[in-house]
Amino acid sequence: MQLRMKTNNCGELNLSNLDQEVTLSGWVDCVRDLGGMIFIELRDRTGFFQLVSDPQKNPEVHKIFEKIRSEYVITIKGKVTRRPEETYNEKLPTGQVEVYPESVEILSEAKPVPFVLDDESVSEDVRLKYRYLDIRRPAMYSKLKLRHDVVQAVRNYMNGNDFLEVETPILIKTTPEGARDYLVPSRVQPGKWYALPQSPQIFKQLLMVGGVERYYQIAKCFRDEDLRADRQPEFTQIDIEMSFVEQQNIIELVEGLIVEGFKAAGVEVKPPFIQMPWQEAMDRFGSDKPDTRFGLELFDIGDIILQSNFDIVKKTLENGGIVRGIRIPGGAKYSRKEIDDITKLAVSFGAKALANIIYNEDGTAKSPVLKFVTEEQAQQIKDRAQAQDGDIIFFVADRPKTVYDIMGRLRLHFGKSLNLIDESKHALLWIVDFPMFEWSDEEQRFMAMHHPFTSPCLDDLDKLDSGDLGNVKSVAYDIVYNGTELGGGSVRIHSPEVQKKIFKALGLTEEEAQEKFGFMVNALQYGTPPHAGLAIGLDRMIALLARTDSIRDVIAFPKNSAAKDLMSDAPAEADYKQVRELYLKSTYNPAQHK
Ligand code: AMO
Ligand code: AMP
Repeated sequence: MQLRMKTNNCGELNLSNLDQEVTLSGWVDCVRDLGGMIFIELRDRTGFFQLVSDPQKNPEVHKIFEKIRSEYVITIKGKVTRRPEETYNEKLPTGQVEVYPESVEILSEAKPVPFVLDDESVSEDVRLKYRYLDIRRPAMYSKLKLRHDVVQAVRNYMNGNDFLEVETPILIKTTPEGARDYLVPSRVQPGKWYALPQSPQIFKQLLMVGGVERYYQIAKCFRDEDLRADRQPEFTQIDIEMSFVEQQNIIELVEGLIVEGFKAAGVEVKPPFIQMPWQEAMDRFGSDKPDTRFGLELFDIGDIILQSNFDIVKKTLENGGIVRGIRIPGGAKYSRKEIDDITKLAVSFGAKALANIIYNEDGTAKSPVLKFVTEEQAQQIKDRAQAQDGDIIFFVADRPKTVYDIMGRLRLHFGKSLNLIDESKHALLWIVDFPMFEWSDEEQRFMAMHHPFTSPCLDDLDKLDSGDLGNVKSVAYDIVYNGTELGGGSVRIHSPEVQKKIFKALGLTEEEAQEKFGFMVNALQYGTPPHAGLAIGLDRMIALLARTDSIRDVIAFPKNSAAKDLMSDAPAEADYKQVRELYLKSTYNPAQHK
C-alpha cells in the first residue's frame, strides 16, 4: 500500500537508504534547539529517526520547526544523509543517518503531555489514566506486538491441527466455576439477569455434543474476584476442546502449542514436559504450581515425631495433621532477629508456630524442640533433612492444606531472597492426578477443585457413592511455567448419570441441578462423545514471556487492582433514565455494606 504521508518507517532507515527521498510521519519525541540548529527525534511504532533543520539551508522549514513541541504529529519530506561520523548514535539502529527536511507539515498539535513517556518513576496509576500516551512507548508497543505474534502462532498451530475457531456468547446464564459472576440485568425480561462467562466451558462442551470435535477460541472471560498482579476481572484464554481423546492426547496437543507459542517469543522449549502427580507436588514443593527452577524441597518428619515426646505436634499428627520441614543451607548463622522475622512471616502465612533446629558448625544442635526428642531422633531428623553442620531447618505441623500453603510460600520466600532462582530456565511441567474435591471451610462443604464438569477417575466412582469425597481423584491437569499456573483442563464427564452424581456430591439438590445446569445434563443425553480440553491464560503466558510481573503490562487497556479503568473511569454511575428501564430493586443497604 502506497501512503502519501509515509514512504518509510522511522526505525527502518540506515546507511543503505543514503540519498533516498523519503516521507516520514510520526510523533515528536523531543526537540533540541542547539543555538540555531534544531534537532527533532521523530518516533513511530518502529523506532526513532533524527531530523535536523538549519536556518541557513531552509528558512521556511526552520520557521515551522521552531513551533514544533513534543508529541506533535508531523510529516516531513527529505533525502536521507549520513551524519557526521563523530555524531553517530550507537544506541539507535538509525543512528548513522538523518534527514534535513525539504518540507514539513504539522498534522496535529499536542498539549504538553502530563508525564515524560519514558520516565521510569511515573506511577502506574498515571500511566493507566493516560494509557493512550503510555502505549506510545516502544516498550509497550513491543509487548502488544509480542502478544499478537504469539496469538498468530497459536492460531496457525490450531488451524494446522484442523481445529475450528468458534465464538461463544458473552451474555449467558450463570455457569459458576468458583469465582463470582458479573451480572447484567435484562431490560426486556424485568427481574432476570444474564451473567458474563467466567469461561466458555459449557458452550465448548456443547460444541462437542454438536459434533464439532475440534474447537478453539481466543476467548474473553470475566470473573468478579479479588485482583492480583496475575489476575484481571476480564482476561483472555486460549480455550480448547476436543472429542474422542484422553488426557495424554490433550497434553501432547498443548505441548505442541506451547512450543509454537514460545517460539514466536524467541523461547525454545522441548517436550515432553514432566508430569507430576498433585500429591507429589504438594509433598515436595508445598504447591500445585511449583517453581522447579530451584531446590529447597520439603521433607516429612512425621514418623520420627510420632516416636518422640513432642506431644503438641504428635497430637496434631494423630488428628490427621502432617508435618513438613525445609532446610536452609548455611542458615545456622541467622541471628535471633532473623529467625524471629522468618517466624513472623510464617505466622503471617497462617502458621500457629514455626519450629527450628540450628545445626552449628561444631556439630552441636540448638533448638527449643530438642527437649522433646532423643539424641537419636534429632539425628534422624538431621538425616531426613539431609542437613549439614551450618544449616538450619524449619518445620510446621498442622492440617495438610495449611502446612502445604505455609511451607510452599516459605520455600518461595527463601528461593527469592537467597537468589536461588535461575532466571534463564524455562521450567514447564504438568500437574496431574488432582483431587476431585476440596473442602471449603467457608462454605462448609466439598467444592470442585477444577469445575463440576471434570471427570472423576473412573476407579474412584465407588468412593463417590460411599461419600469418601476427599479421596476421589479427577482426570484433570494443569500446565505450570516457572511457578505460575499457565493453564488447566480435564477430561469431561460425558455420562449424564455421572454428571448428576457430581452435582449431588457438590450438595446440589436435583431441583437445583436441573435449574442451574438442566440444559447441560439434557444435552449429555443425546449422544455425547468422550471429550476433554484445556484453557491457557493468554495474559499470563504473554506476561511471563515478556518477563514482566504484571499482566496489566500486556493488556492494552487493563483495570487497576480495584477493578477500575482509570482512563474512562469505569465502573461509573449510569443515567437514572437508563437504570430505570431495568426495573431494578436495589439491595444496597449502607448499614450492611461497609
Ligand atoms: P481455569 O479457571 O483454570 O480453567 O482458567 C484457565 C486459565 O486462565 C487463567 N486465568 C486468569 N488469568 C487472568 N486473570 C484471571 N482472573 C484469571 N483466571 C484464570 C489462568 C488459568 O490457568 N474452563 C476451564 C478450563 C478447562 O477446563 O478447559 C477454566 O476456565 O492462567
Ligand atoms: P513450647 O512448648 O510452647 O515452647 O513449644 C515448643 C516448640 O514447639 C516451639 O518451638 C514451637 O515453635 C513448636 N511448635 C508448637 N506447635 C507447633 C506446630 N504446630 N508446628 C511446628 N512447631 C510447633
